[in-house]
Amino acid sequence: MTRWLDGLEERARHHVPAHILEYVLQGAGASVSTAEAPHAWAGVRLVPRVLRDVTHIDLTTRLLDTTYQVPWGVAPTTLQRSVHPDGEVAMARACAEAGSLLVVSSNAGTRFEEIGATGVDWWLQAYLPSDRRLAEPLLERAVEAGARAVVLTVDTPVVGTKITESGRSIFELVPSEHLRVNFDADYADQPGAEKATDLGPADLAHLGELTGLPVVVKGVLRGADARMCVDAGAAAVWVSNHGGRQLDRVVSTATALPRVREAVGESVQVYVDGGVRSGLDVLAALALGADAVLLGRQPLLALAEGDGGVRRWHAELRTELSEAMRLAGAVTPGDTHGLATP
Ligand SMILES: Cc1cc2nc3c(=O)[nH]c(=O)nc-3n(C[C@H](O)[C@H](O)[C@H](O)COP(=O)(O)O)c2cc1C
Repeated sequence: MTRWLDGLEERARHHVPAHILEYVLQGAGASVSTAEAPHAWAGVRLVPRVLRDVTHIDLTTRLLDTTYQVPWGVAPTTLQRSVHPDGEVAMARACAEAGSLLVVSSNAGTRFEEIGATGVDWWLQAYLPSDRRLAEPLLERAVEAGARAVVLTVDTPVVGTKITESGRSIFELVPSEHLRVNFDADYADQPGAEKATDLGPADLAHLGELTGLPVVVKGVLRGADARMCVDAGAAAVWVSNHGGRQLDRVVSTATALPRVREAVGESVQVYVDGGVRSGLDVLAALALGADAVLLGRQPLLALAEGDGGVRRWHAELRTELSEAMRLAGAVTPGDTHGLATP
């Protein structure tokens, strides 16, 4: 038997320019953490329950105040229009159909209103600039277009160096209409538009007040930091190392997740991403205490095959996770918590 998911990268080579694919797959520096991530999930060991009725598996998952059909979602990624001409709209359509969460990058190449018009339940991912006021027009556009939460990425005071075959930055090679179309045209030229290097807890409350939306903090790896986010008003924390694209040699999220869960307790939602490639990986993450699992590169590779590719990706994960949950004796995502050995 072969796995459709295993062929994603090879098939994407037929559709996606080599420099785009390189950017999607790479990590920062020597890509140590990017390479390590899938192995970290494969290292989690599960202890199944038996003598439970697993006839009906229910994957529905409540995240913040919305019910989704599956416990996974699409993490924010750029360059979706460079991967497929239909870009974010195709991704959104397929997520709407699957009833999954979509997190949209603030650097997206499609206008928020077009994404919202697909009917998908989506959250905005944002970075904050040195001059916080410059973020306001983008945030307003997202709120108007129906974003249900704002995800503040906190692991990017500077962009981690990525080494490329051509020696050129991807941003010199990509057409400008594929990136950052929801910002004001002159945004990057304004003083204070560079990424903030002084983010602090006060930014969480400010973002919440400004948008009226729940704030999720993405890029948390330490228990004490997770606690600080919650104390500062975060609605949820997202354990992420940015797919190994920021600090190389950073700890894997499979290692960090249980510590974060322990620090915030059961009443706060915790999400995780990084190196998740199968339904069994999703189960491992849920079993270690995640409420939802986000995937970045895998749906982006599936998008190379258009919205049909992303639809099939959802279907494959659904089949794999359902089988794994049956075998583990878990009927709902909540049942899986605690199935992993410490
Ligand atoms: C091509 C690409 C672009 C990304 N762009 C963003 C971004 O704009 N904002 C952000 O917070 N994370 C971004 N990420 C990180 C993802 O949201 C996510 O943390 C990571 O991809 C998860 O790891 P995985 O790709 O192994 O699933 C990007 C990742 C990739 C691969």
